Amino acid sequence: MNTEKRIPRHVAIIMDGNGRWASLRSKERYEGHAAGVEPVRASLRAAVRQGVEFLTLYAFSTENWGRPAKEVDTLMELLCESVVNETPELQRQGVRIRTIGERNRLSERVREHLAQAEALTAGGKRLTVIVALNYSSRDEITRAMRRIAGRVAAGTLTPEQITEQTIAGALDTAEFPDPDLIIRTSGECRLSNFLLWQASYAEFYFPEVLWPDFTEEDFDRAIEEYARRDRRFGLVK
Ligand code: IPE
Ligand code: IPE
Ligand code: MG
Repeated sequence: MNTEKRIPRHVAIIMDGNGRWASLRSKERYEGHAAGVEPVRASLRAAVRQGVEFLTLYAFSTENWGRPAKEVDTLMELLCESVVNETPELQRQGVRIRTIGERNRLSERVREHLAQAEALTAGGKRLTVIVALNYSSRDEITRAMRRIAGRVAAGTLTPEQITEQTIAGALDTAEFPDPDLIIRTSGECRLSNFLLWQASYAEFYFPEVLWPDFTEEDFDRAIEEYARRDRRFGLVK
């Protein structure tokens, strides 16, 4: 038996299925989102235990603003609450919080809570949790292109000097490695505008489980599946 365990350095999760979980129980959609907090805790515990270094969580897309106002408000409220309540435990576990996505559209209150959580957990060395909030990949790439065009217009960069590193370095994820494994729950097999550039060589895993039912064991199963994959990066072994 091969006992060597291959652990993805960076796992990214599209946490999907809260609404369906709620409607299966004749509950309101927001109750599904509330039930989606515990699986976040479980994933963090599992990631720390497994030795994963980066965990990105897709929490709110730029498209999600189009949902009913009540649902959007509940999601933002849940986010603030969780960030405040969980920060001490995150500090204990050595978790560092970061975010990606366009912050300007978030309320002052949400931004303050996030900034505080980032500051309080800045020393975390075991796991970096990256919350994708008001995030979409095309929006991120568009903002990055504007930044690069600005440098060209200012004369500090020539078009010929633009490399893949220039682009990667202008994205919100500049300081993080690319995801090795992307998990999307609820059986949907799409990226929904998530990490398009960064996912070039990621492995994908689409379990049927709805996000509120996702457990530490489900996380472990994803890691086991990843360990069986043969990543070739376009090469011949
Ligand atoms: C994921 O669950 C949470 C967010 C998108 C914020 P959904 O709310 O998309 O749940 P479904 O896909 O409708 O079941
Ligand atoms: C993607 O899920 C966004 C998050 C999980 C935050 P959606 O439920 O919004 O995506 P679609 O609409 O099914 O593609
Ligand atoms: Mg969904």
